[in-house]
Amino acid sequence: MLVLGIETSCDDTGVALYCTRRGLLAQALHSQIAMHERYGGVVPELASRDHVRRLLPLTEQVLEQAGVALADIDAIAFTEGPGLAGALLVGAGVASSIAFALRKPAIGIHHLEGHLLSPMLSERPPDFPFVALLVSGGHTQLMRVDGVGRYALLGETLDDAAGEAFDKSAKLLGLGYPGGPAIARLAQTGRDGAVALPRPMLHSGDLDFSFSGLKTAVLTAVRRGLPDEQARADLAFAVQAAIVDVLVAKSLAALEASGLGTLVIAGGVSANRRLRDLVALAQAERGFDAHFPAPALCTDNGAMIAFAGALRLAAGQAAVVPSGFTVRPRWQLSELPAPPRA
Ligand code: KG4
Ligand code: ZN
Repeated sequence: MLVLGIETSCDDTGVALYCTRRGLLAQALHSQIAMHERYGGVVPELASRDHVRRLLPLTEQVLEQAGVALADIDAIAFTEGPGLAGALLVGAGVASSIAFALRKPAIGIHHLEGHLLSPMLSERPPDFPFVALLVSGGHTQLMRVDGVGRYALLGETLDDAAGEAFDKSAKLLGLGYPGGPAIARLAQTGRDGAVALPRPMLHSGDLDFSFSGLKTAVLTAVRRGLPDEQARADLAFAVQAAIVDVLVAKSLAALEASGLGTLVIAGGVSANRRLRDLVALAQAERGFDAHFPAPALCTDNGAMIAFAGALRLAAGQAAVVPSGFTVRPRWQLSELPAPPRA
């Protein structure tokens, strides 16, 4: 089965072709970071318009790369939500129109399910069941995953997401958007322990997170004054360390509470080097199994959407030729129905 995947939930236009026999055949991505950078964040209307411009050329590009014709595609998967309404409408509209014209099924995918399943695209895929830490710009959730669509929420952020904490702290430090990679870069020259920041809810005894206090602490430190580049780097180090410490501690607690031995970390923040290193360290100490997506698949992409679509269709989800389409800007992962053979 050959599935075309289309992702347009935020500021990346992603297109990919996934074949259930041959794996990922081609993928293309256009990041809008440069366009949004000067506004310090994503401007929804600009995002939608850029998806309109990029989507068809990127689709042609992946078809050519893979050496397949549009008519060879068996199904089209698109991100139905959550995300920016206008941006989602572009992907859903294009996907459904192509599907309708080809008389092929279209399938709407939950963006976080795409992230969640993306480590399964690697050469050493995790087996169900596992604990998943989903860390993106909009979400921070710990889930128990028993199969495709079989997700139970274990804990989540009560306020800001981990990626948002990186982004907001970066803004306070006068760094560009997105903040995660910018903080990580500056932190490379920062000194461990030079600045102390709180680790919110580290000992709360549950699996929830809170990151909004961190930005207040960063704001206080910035107002106190950062005399030189070293002071800025030290603060960046402290921000990254505080966020990563909490993410790792809660993930370990979730493994313990669930009795599971496999941890999957996905979403934009899973690209973070320190997070990967500290998980590897804990893994060596405790002997659980850890999985991350390939670095190129951590942030938004079309491959994870094509893959999630293929898994759902293979698990018996009804495949219908669309006669219209919907998007769901707000959509809880736990509301998602499992396919018949999940
Ligand atoms: O999954 P994603 O691409 O988009 C959403 O679905 O939100 O995640 C984007 C988030 C941003 O907040 C960005 O700052 C963060 O992921 N991020 C990182 C890194 N790369 C991206 N955070 C920390 N370290 C990184 N290397
Ligand atoms: Zn995402």
